[in-house]
Amino acid sequence: MKKQELNSRDAIGLLVNSFYTKVKVDNLLAPIFNNAQFFSWDTHIPIMINFWETLLLDTASYKGNTMQKHIMLHRQQPLTPELFDRWKKLFYATLDELFEGPNVAEARRRVESMSSLMQYKIAQSQQKGFIQ
Ligand code: HEM
Repeated sequence: MKKQELNSRDAIGLLVNSFYTKVKVDNLLAPIFNNAQFFSWDTHIPIMINFWETLLLDTASYKGNTMQKHIMLHRQQPLTPELFDRWKKLFYATLDELFEGPNVAEARRRVESMSSLMQYKIAQSQQKGFIQ
């Protein structure tokens, strides 16, 4: 299949759906999603499309608090470095299989910075006295 630019909502929809097709059969990541409380793929996928659209196409369609969600998630199921590595590996594989152009590098940069910040915030949230 010819690679396409990551420059429309449809292309982002393909990215998100293809990434989760991998996640759903992944031995490490699938259980995290399957065990997450009040979680449904039908609501999660459009949220993720809005998230990536906001980061890459500047639409402001995502209004959530990503860091807080993962801090809460970590309290139920530890988000270990191994899980972050797997998440990134599947995400980058999806990007490389399907897309080309400047937004591919931008998406990688966003994942690198968000996953570092997320792991830092998670570690911080375990310090004594952290309330959220
Ligand atoms: C260990 C790696 C990760 C795991 C296991 C994971 C898992 C999850 C799960 C289970 C949810 C659904 C939470 C819920 O709706 O209750 C979620 C939401 C989300 N994740 Fe992750 N995630 C990981 C890393 C990341 C990274 C690196 C990013 C950003 C690049 C990201 C972006 C998001 C966003 C935007 C949401 C939606 C938050 C909202 O509802 O506003 N995740 N994640």
